[in-house]
Amino acid sequence: MELSKAILERRSCRSYNREKEVTEEQLREMLEYATWAPSGTNAQPWRFSVLMGEKKAEFLEIMRNKVEENKENFTEQQYNIYTWSALSLEKGSAIVLVWDCKKTWTSPQSIGAAIQTMMLKAYDMGLGTLWVAAVHVAAEEYAKLYNREGMELIAGVGVGYPSEKMIGKKGPPRLSVDEVAEFFN
Ligand SMILES: Cc1cc2nc3c(=O)[nH]c(=O)nc-3n(C[C@H](O)[C@H](O)[C@H](O)COP(=O)(O)O)c2cc1C
Repeated sequence: MELSKAILERRSCRSYNREKEVTEEQLREMLEYATWAPSGTNAQPWRFSVLMGEKKAEFLEIMRNKVEENKENFTEQQYNIYTWSALSLEKGSAIVLVWDCKKTWTSPQSIGAAIQTMMLKAYDMGLGTLWVAAVHVAAEEYAKLYNREGMELIAGVGVGYPSEKMIGKKGPPRLSVDEVAEFFN
């Protein structure tokens, strides 16, 4: 697959085909590509926790309980994002949690690069992904559960086989280059 095509056609996947499960081998391959992302001083600040099967279900139960317990602290929009994100993650095969183990000033940039690299590789493998920042709602619980205490939870990435609905799905509109860039020459 051409890289340009993958960049333009990758979509946030919220609809999956549950008849096919993503394997550990496929997830390992995605993560291997993620490790080839650039990072400040080659610090490679990313760490991953890969949740499949019952472990994925347990993760989602914790997320949902946390959201319900703290419902009164959220705006309606926040509450909807949390519940919608949990529902979307449930539909896929696996969740990859991405942690920052270095917490330096370049870490967020490096980790963003790793996540996008992983997602483009997944797309190339015929898989759908969803980048979910909303998992931070239960970050402390997850750090304990997955032995990542002292690290910062950056995001969760849902992974699965996309449903037919995702084929050719248009993305939300983008600003034009003229709206986002200024050229000096
Ligand atoms: C940093 C970041 C955080 C995101 N967090 C969430 C999230 O918590 N829940 C969700 O459903 N989608 C989330 N998304 C997906 C965006 O909504 C999506 O990328 C955007 O609407 C553009 O759509 P596209 O990915 O199909 O091009 C996130 C994306 C990024 C890059």
